[in-house]
Amino acid sequence: MWDLIGVLILPGLVRLKAVVGYEMAGFVGGDPHPSEGVGWIATLGVLPAYRRQGIASALLEACETQMNLPAVRLSVRRSNEAALRLYRGQGYHLVDVWPGYYFDHEDALVLEKKC
Ligand SMILES: CC(C)(COP(=O)(O)OP(=O)(O)OC[C@H]1O[C@@H](n2cnc3c(N)ncnc32)[C@H](O)[C@@H]1OP(=O)(O)O)[C@@H](O)C(=O)NCCC(=O)NCCS
Repeated sequence: MWDLIGVLILPGLVRLKAVVGYEMAGFVGGDPHPSEGVGWIATLGVLPAYRRQGIASALLEACETQMNLPAVRLSVRRSNEAALRLYRGQGYHLVDVWPGYYFDHEDALVLEKKC
């Protein structure tokens, strides 16, 4: 919750939205860490009605481009098969596991893509 509010209000973050008609169909937030050469995808989501149309892929690629860093990382629930398939298709691979990271103690998988 507070992480998401930070993505919306903190300076220096990349925020991109996908709009269809008058509706926001999707959103991505990127958190660049230039001193470490890494940008983190902090949040990515697409409304159910607009899924499987390439919107998340396009948002992800645009965010990677805008952060313009050698590597991009993100964390994702071990059970989130849709997101894992998306990220693997976009060239991300597993670099770490954070055991019990989420509030319900599910593990986070940390994925990375070299840009
Ligand atoms: C994960 C999510 C962002 C994907 O958004 P999307 O716009 O539907 O993704 P895309 O259309 O770009 O999908 C690209 C590829 O990812 C994979 N993929 C996406 N959703 C999938 C699903 N439900 N099941 C299996 N594969 C899926 C497919 O390989 C897909 O390519 P294809 O449609 O040609 O088969 C969306 O389902 C979502 O918002 N989920 C809830 C929030 C979430 O989990 N965010 C990620 C947190 S780390």
